[in-house]
Amino acid sequence: RLMRRNRLLEITTEAARYFYYQLTRTEQGKHALGYLDSRKVTEEFRRRFGLGYAPISRDGLYRFLQSKGYGDDEIRGAGLSNGGGEKVYDRFFNRLMFPIFDAQGRAIAFGGRVMGSGEPKYLNSPETEIFNKRKNLYGMQIAKKSRRGKILVVEGYMDVLSLHQAGFDNAVASLGTALTKEQALLMKKYVSDVVLIYDSDQAGTKAAQRAIPILEDTGLYVKVLRIPGYKDPDEFIKNKSREEFEALIQEALDPIDFEMVVLNSQTGADTVEGKVKTLKALAQRLSEISNPLERELHIRDVAQKMQVDEQSLKREVDEIQRMSG
Ligand code: GTP
Ligand code: MN
Ligand code: MN
Ligand code: MN
Ligand code: MN
Repeated sequence: RLMRRNRLLEITTEAARYFYYQLTRTEQGKHALGYLDSRKVTEEFRRRFGLGYAPISRDGLYRFLQSKGYGDDEIRGAGLSNGGGEKVYDRFFNRLMFPIFDAQGRAIAFGGRVMGSGEPKYLNSPETEIFNKRKNLYGMQIAKKSRRGKILVVEGYMDVLSLHQAGFDNAVASLGTALTKEQALLMKKYVSDVVLIYDSDQAGTKAAQRAIPILEDTGLYVKVLRIPGYKDPDEFIKNKSREEFEALIQEALDPIDFEMVVLNSQTGADTVEGKVKTLKALAQRLSEISNPLERELHIRDVAQKMQVDEQSLKREVDEIQRMSG
């Protein structure tokens, strides 16, 4: 078992080397290097993240791995090829490759981006004996060493790269899945504070709303950052500056304030009905704060911001608590 795992880890490491070589030393790789230039990824950072290129080839990686002594079953097991015998196909074809490292810095899987149009935009390794996507975070091998004292959770590979390049070496991404309990526990090993910085679209807002309780249940302190004017952190940092991003982080919202902003934009704070709806949802959220002092302070704060009487809001919260026993 352990033998097998070690073999698969060797294979993914060899594959990362192969993709790196294809990117930096071949004619085909030049196109991918050009793509990285267009996305403002520097040489230093493409090295640090071990970026590579999967060439236009049916089974180039497979044959490379075979020449190193690995068998069909192992190569398939590492998630790198499909089929067998005469009909083997590499999984990744003409894509910019992002190795996914575990927290110990071992390459365990890949994400591959099409350059230009094509579906899917990102293709990831399948789950394997060495890659459980629920348990890993892209960029964690670097973020765990950061001295910034908190972790920034973003959506995508490119967001992680851009932020690291701008000096935010504490950014990680959740590999295109909803944030999991396991990922929260992994972060908890290194920090107690997390800032969620998801895309500015509705999917990003929903993802943040779902991630908040998972992080809080793990005992992490959560803040939420909404990016004004741009669709994700990568675009913000490229059009603005590191200083402006730093300022945004300082202003990240407490989860309840985030909820208030989201609800106000959804139901509208300008009608009585909208306001009542928002306040009821917030009262529900407030009732879930178990620490009485913290609950009271948040009730006061919400009452002020929503311009309602603090005692009325408190009664509403107490009522919900009483009903839920
Ligand atoms: P860029 O367009 O390169 O800037 O990527 P992005 O990260 O901004 O893309 P997006 O916001 O659409 O997606 C965020 C993350 O979700 C990506 O980094 C991927 O991890 C994942 N993702 C996006 N599209 C796909 C897809 O088609 N398939 C899979 N499996 N994952 C995807
Ligand atoms: Mn998105
Ligand atoms: Mn993007
Ligand atoms: Mn995005
Ligand atoms: Mn709080």
